[in-house]
Amino acid sequence: MNPVKVGLLGLGTVGCGTVSVLTRNSGEINRRAGRGIEIVLAAVRERRRSRRCDAGGIPLTAEPFEVVDDPRVEIVLELIGGIEPARELVLKAIANGKHVVTANKALIALHGNEIFARAQERGVMVAFEAAVAGGIPIIKAIREGLTGNTIQWLAGIINGTGNFILTEMRDEGRSFGEVLAEAQALGYAEADPRFDVDGIDAAHKLTILASIAFGIPLQFDKVYTEGITQITPEDVAYAGDLGYRIKHLGIARRASQGIELRVHPTLIPHRRLIANVDGVMNAVLIMGDAVGPTLYYGPGAGAEPTASAVVADLVDVVRALTADPENRVPHLAFQPDALSDTPVLPIEAVETAYYLRLRAEDRPGVLADITRILGDLNISIEAILQKEPAEGEIDVPIILLTHKVVEQNMIQAIARIERLPAVRTKVARIRLETLK
Ligand code: HSE
Repeated sequence: MNPVKVGLLGLGTVGCGTVSVLTRNSGEINRRAGRGIEIVLAAVRERRRSRRCDAGGIPLTAEPFEVVDDPRVEIVLELIGGIEPARELVLKAIANGKHVVTANKALIALHGNEIFARAQERGVMVAFEAAVAGGIPIIKAIREGLTGNTIQWLAGIINGTGNFILTEMRDEGRSFGEVLAEAQALGYAEADPRFDVDGIDAAHKLTILASIAFGIPLQFDKVYTEGITQITPEDVAYAGDLGYRIKHLGIARRASQGIELRVHPTLIPHRRLIANVDGVMNAVLIMGDAVGPTLYYGPGAGAEPTASAVVADLVDVVRALTADPENRVPHLAFQPDALSDTPVLPIEAVETAYYLRLRAEDRPGVLADITRILGDLNISIEAILQKEPAEGEIDVPIILLTHKVVEQNMIQAIARIERLPAVRTKVARIRLETLK
């Protein structure tokens, strides 16, 4: 049988990783796919640039629309990232009847509903395993492996750069800026690294995970997002004293009134496996009603780990080329006409436990005032830690852990605590999840 003809958009970190893996493992890949796979044209920004892979045999063009309009091309690999021109290119490829494999989480999170609708009409596949958690086959696991379950919640470390920064800061005492620069040099970080540290990249991925877990449309604009830039070394140390680690988690939970979608720093008990996922590694913990908890772990960024997912998608598409479109796995795991309109809850309605840190004057009655405010708002305290004042200071750090509470009540409690005359600073607040 003739090899399948593929057009490649982008020869950056992931594009080059994909070319290297396809070349190195061509024998194994062909045995699995049942056909050869041939890249017949690749679009690049600069044709003469030096690259991290040997793309010598691939004809290059500087015009990406040549790739999506090439009549030889059956599958387009979109590995340029960002929204435009990726969106236009993908829609054009679909309109031309070509299948698409993409690693573009921003594109799927923001425009996936439209892209999948067009693909459905045209009877083509859009595969996006590489968009979430790098090399971990998490889309396949949820969409196919867990299909018998009602998924109750999932929680993931889904940004490799952020996890790498937090780990290096905690274990090596390195500065935020220095570790971020290393993540950029290693090809982990987004083109704009604020997407990593502000939680936007994780929110893109959580949007996708929640859709395929719960059968809801992609709703990136409803994700509550907080980054890691406010985490201080003292919070990391106090969390450790109390038996917790701080991780930047994406959490999606089916609650009684709707669905929680949130990305924020989170204290988790240090004995949980996911609390020990360090460096660029990602992990996603999923609670299914039938299977219970399952945990998926692996490299969340980098050239070849991401290429591993791209190539897996490519082989899946090749195998399904002749399948009846009605019998393929639906893009969002559920049949397109069976997606649910369950609302996504605003963050004020989310229920979670909290870590609070503040500085207060060390005199009788201060702790009583604080605990009274919490009690009045129905917030139950799990632990209190009062530290010694630092040399020459009269204020003491106070750390509290609470049981679960509706966020709205916590917002009110913090405002009242900050109005106490003895409380000298803003209250630092980090959400806490036991992940039981
Ligand atoms: N910047 C992303 C990360 C790349 O660090 O996780 C993989 O999506």
